[in-house]
Amino acid sequence: MTSTVVVTRKIFEQSLARLAPKFRVIANQDDVSLDATELHARVKDADAILSTTTDRIDAALLDAAPKLRAVCNIAVGYNNIDVAACTQRGIVVTNTPDVLTETTADLGFALLLATARRITESEAWLRAGQWKRWELDQMLGLDVHGTTLGILGMGRIGGAIARRASGFDMRVIYHNRSRSDQECGAHWVDKTTLLRESDHLVLVLPYSQQTHHIIGAAELSLMKPTATLINIARGGIVDDAALVHALKNKQIAAAGLDVFENEPALHPGLLECQNVVLTPHIGSASRATRMAMANLAIDNLRAVLDGQRPTTPVNPEVLGKP
Ligand code: GLV
Repeated sequence: MTSTVVVTRKIFEQSLARLAPKFRVIANQDDVSLDATELHARVKDADAILSTTTDRIDAALLDAAPKLRAVCNIAVGYNNIDVAACTQRGIVVTNTPDVLTETTADLGFALLLATARRITESEAWLRAGQWKRWELDQMLGLDVHGTTLGILGMGRIGGAIARRASGFDMRVIYHNRSRSDQECGAHWVDKTTLLRESDHLVLVLPYSQQTHHIIGAAELSLMKPTATLINIARGGIVDDAALVHALKNKQIAAAGLDVFENEPALHPGLLECQNVVLTPHIGSASRATRMAMANLAIDNLRAVLDGQRPTTPVNPEVLGKP
């Protein structure tokens, strides 16, 4: 019998074409927002779901999808999915690591440079017609080259950022629960040292209960008043209210944020701060990389439905179970 695939959000037409002939596809090319009730109704006959970070795949959804065999997320992060509940039901979860590493590291570095050199603030000021003459002390920012880069979390993306930093003659320090085998010239330090010594601190760790608000008021108070904080990981890792307080009170110099607690809603205080660069969760958003992510997720989905091993399972312990 033909398997049913539910695609929760709009995907590239080329990606959809890789599913359509083989499966009965319930697509959402109009990209309508589906609340939990609507999503639950859609997945009732689903054998697989092609999901994104905006979909909440929890036990209630799994209960509404009794035939479900695979949840294939088009993202490296999978904190939107209750993986334990999937594993318990023998449902394979997959993500899209590797294909987005370099693109996400590019965005991390772009945010770092934009934040340190006040790029978006300068442009807004110029566009507002405020540039009347050149001045020696106009829009003074912070150096990136030759400074100390801190990385919290040292997985693949952290390593790719560390490699970029060597071109800027930066000293690179990192903190991870365990010392990483992909240090890329970076030195492990404890978290307090990381916070105290970083001139620019980039967050690249996954979100979980353990990392919720791992950067809050206490951590921000340890940072240099000249430091910047860059978050390309997940909202909720930073306590946004504490960050707004630190930015307004110049406890740190500036922040560059691609992710937010409760996004797409923003803490209103962030919009009041000049010393913050804001982007709408575009870490992996180059055309080539988003295509590669969709393709990898579809490869994973097709593999599971064909009884093969997917390339990037999150819960490999489920594989091989009847
Ligand atoms: C994006 O945030 C991802 O996890 O891939």
